[in-house]
Amino acid sequence: MAAPLVGEMEPAAAESVYFNEYPPPKALPKHEALARAFIQLHVEANRRVVLVTSGGTTVPLEAQTVRFIDNFSAGTRGATSAEYFLEQGYAVIFLHRQYSLLPYSRHYSHSTNCFLDFMDEAPPSADSAESGHGSIMVRDEYQDQMRSVLRKYRYAKQNNRLLLLPFTTVSEYMFELRSMAKIMRPIGPNALFYLAAAVSDFFIPRSRMAEHKIQSSELPAHLQGSAVGADDIYTGENEEQPSNRKKLVVNLDPVPKFLHRLVDGWAPEGSMVVSFKLETDPSLLVYKARTALQRYSHHLVIGNLLSTRKWEVVFITPDEPHERWIRVPKSKRSKSISGVEDQVGLAEAQKGNTVPLDQSE
Ligand code: PMT
Repeated sequence: MAAPLVGEMEPAAAESVYFNEYPPPKALPKHEALARAFIQLHVEANRRVVLVTSGGTTVPLEAQTVRFIDNFSAGTRGATSAEYFLEQGYAVIFLHRQYSLLPYSRHYSHSTNCFLDFMDEAPPSADSAESGHGSIMVRDEYQDQMRSVLRKYRYAKQNNRLLLLPFTTVSEYMFELRSMAKIMRPIGPNALFYLAAAVSDFFIPRSRMAEHKIQSSELPAHLQGSAVGADDIYTGENEEQPSNRKKLVVNLDPVPKFLHRLVDGWAPEGSMVVSFKLETDPSLLVYKARTALQRYSHHLVIGNLLSTRKWEVVFITPDEPHERWIRVPKSKRSKSISGVEDQVGLAEAQKGNTVPLDQSE
C-alpha cells in the first residue's frame, strides 16, 4: 500500500513529518527574537495584537532554486487591512511575502501608483540658483493625502506598532506562522490571526526535489550524476511517448492544511482566527467557505472571488446570520492616480459605505 501523503495525514502527524523534512528558514531565529520583544512590549501595554499574513507563497522546483511556482497575490488585502488594524489600536505583526505590498508605502509603490508621479522639482530658489537645482517636493494636489499617510506611517513606526517579517516559500511561511502563533501565547484572548496570504495548495516534498537546476537538454554521461533533467521528472500516462521527452511534468503533493494545528494547538487560548477563501467560480464560494469554517472550527471565513475581491466579500460565521455580504458601491471605490480603481479596506466598507448585495451597482 502506498504511504499516505503528508497533506492527507492527521494534523499532528502531518506537522511532525512536514517540519522535519525542511530546515527552518535562516531568518527564523532573528524573526523570533524580534517578535518576542514586540509581544512583550504589547503584553505590558495590554494591547491587542494581530498577526496579518499577506501575499503569495512560492513552491520551489529545485532546492537551489532557479524556478518556482507562484500565484497572483500582490498583498493588497493584507497591507490595506493592516493599516485599518493599526488605526483601531492594534499592534500588527505583518508576515508578508518579500517585496509584496506593505502598509502605507503601498499607496506609492504599486506600478499603477508610482511614487515619482507624486513628486515635482521646485523652481530654484535664490539659495539654490547657483547649483541650478530646486528641491524635490510633493505636488500640491497630493500634499494632503501624502501628509496623512506619512503621519500614520511615522506613528506606527515610532510607537513600535508594526513588525514587518518577510517570507518567500511555502515552507518558510509555515515555519514563520507556527513560531509566531506560539510566541503570541502570552497575548491570550487579545490575539487575532488574520490569514489573508494566498498559500500554495500544492508543493514538491523536499525528498523528491531536484537539488540543482533541472536540465532541459541531455548531458554527457560523465556529467549526469548530480543533475536531474526534465526526463527524470516527467511522469504520467504519456511517459513512454518520444514526443513527450522534453516535457517537464511536475508531480505535486497537497500542502498540509495547518489551520487545524493553528486553531487547536499553536494559537493562544481564546484568540480569534479569521481565514480567507478565494475562488474563481461564484457557485463554489459560499460552499467552500462554509466547509472551511466547519472543518477548522474557527471564528470567521471571509470569502472572495478573484475578479471582484476588491469590492465584494462574504463573511461566513458560525452564528447568525451565517452569511453576510459586504460590497463597496462603485461611487465609493477609490482610484489610483492613473485612474485604476484601488482597494478600499473592509473596515471602511463596514462603516456604512456598503449596500446589500441585491441593491448593488
Ligand atoms: O493579495 P491580494 O491581491 O489583495 O489578494 C487577496 C487574497 C485574494 C489572496 C485574499 O483575500 C485571500 O483570499 N487569501 C486566501 C487565499 C487562499 O489561500 O485560500 P485557500 O483556500 O488556499 O486557504 C484558506 C485559508 O487557509 C487561508 O486563510 C490560508 O491562509 C490558510 N491556509 C491555506 C493553505 C495551507 N496549507 N494552510 C493554511 O493555513
